[in-house]
Amino acid sequence: MNATQHIASKKAHANDPIGVFDSGVGGLSVLKHIQDLLPNEQLRYVADSRYAPYGNKTVAEIQARCFTLADFLIAQGAKVLVVACNTATAAAIDALRERYTLPIIGMEPAVKPAAEASQNGIIGILATVGTLKSAQFAALLESYGRNVEVVTQACPGLVECIERGEVDSPATRDLIKQFCAPLLAEGADTVVLGCTHYPFVRALISDVVGPKVSLVDTGAAVAKQVKNRLIESGLLATEQAPGAVHFWTNSAAVEAPAVIARLWGQAAEVSVF
Ligand code: DGL
Repeated sequence: MNATQHIASKKAHANDPIGVFDSGVGGLSVLKHIQDLLPNEQLRYVADSRYAPYGNKTVAEIQARCFTLADFLIAQGAKVLVVACNTATAAAIDALRERYTLPIIGMEPAVKPAAEASQNGIIGILATVGTLKSAQFAALLESYGRNVEVVTQACPGLVECIERGEVDSPATRDLIKQFCAPLLAEGADTVVLGCTHYPFVRALISDVVGPKVSLVDTGAAVAKQVKNRLIESGLLATEQAPGAVHFWTNSAAVEAPAVIARLWGQAAEVSVF
């Protein structure tokens, strides 16, 4: 057993924190759902913003980053890990589960709920290049996308806008218009937000696609899965008080902590790592 596995397999306690990470600030959209559903849990969030975006990185590069972040969160005492990133899940969830013994929850674009919700059988999927070209995504389409027409669209540059906190700028709107145009041209009535950054521009996307198009993301479903895994593992917090949330970023940008606080929507204790 190597040192990492030794750390990962220490006896977890129910009041230890939940460790959550993403390539950057996107996973905050998932963290919010986790906090809403599990308010008494201690939460620790790491934004790997110096290395964002993951969408155009190789699988090996993403796996290496995920190991670094997992080691960091485990050293903070995490009892479970949540990979709040579709791209990182596609590239690294198997490798993470091989390397660590603690429960690890990942996520994937909401193809199944979108296929079920669509009235006209045409769904659009906005995601990163990495997610769309992954074997996991191909398998997801194979399982749940067979009876619908699926229009996929990668969104290069959009994550970078959100990392800068530009969730309503004209430049961000222009990118969104460009990325949604092919989905609208095909007649999609349901659009999957297949990257955890995109819920932060939900209002803009909604404005661009119009009120007849439904937007679907998996934040709430991931939070439910986290709760179920905690119950199954006997690790649901027993504390009856609201859990503390702590954030780390490795961004070189001076405004990074302010962007986290703004997207989180409450005062946020942010450290640099
Ligand atoms: N937030 C990430 C996702 O859910 C990835 C963004 C990126 O770094 O490209 O896919």
